[in-house]
Amino acid sequence: MKKVLITGGAGFVGASLAISLKQDHPSWTIISLDNLHRRGSELNIPRLRENGIQFVHGDVRIREDIEGVGAFDLLIECSAEPSVLAG
Ligand SMILES: NC(=O)c1ccc[n+]([C@@H]2O[C@H](COP(=O)([O-])OP(=O)(O)OC[C@H]3O[C@@H](n4cnc5c(N)ncnc54)[C@H](O)[C@@H]3O)[C@@H](O)[C@H]2O)c1
Repeated sequence: MKKVLITGGAGFVGASLAISLKQDHPSWTIISLDNLHRRGSELNIPRLRENGIQFVHGDVRIREDIEGVGAFDLLIECSAEPSVLAG
């Protein structure tokens, strides 16, 4: 069984990828970690849970948040401040 950690996993790309991976590989454990910095990203949490994806509130800049997830086979980094103006 694979365990996949998707950081920024409540964002547009991260959540879409998490759901797609889970649908293609139902036996995999998919964890979406996100600090919910982007307003509206919290609206994806129910959708993630409905699709069997674990949500973890955490920040990629905080080592303990990543280590708290435990060992994983693959990390896909999708966290970002994608807005040019905000950035
Ligand atoms: N949306 C697109 O069509 C598209 C196309 C090409 C490339 N990209 C790139 O993909 C990346 C993600 O884009 P998106 O559209 O999903 O943006 P998004 O804002 O929807 O998702 C980014 C997520 O990262 C989270 N985040 C921000 N800082 C964090 C931190 N320190 N720790 C944990 N989580 C954090 C935010 O809360 C948000 O949920 C960006 O780099 C973007 O440039 C997006």
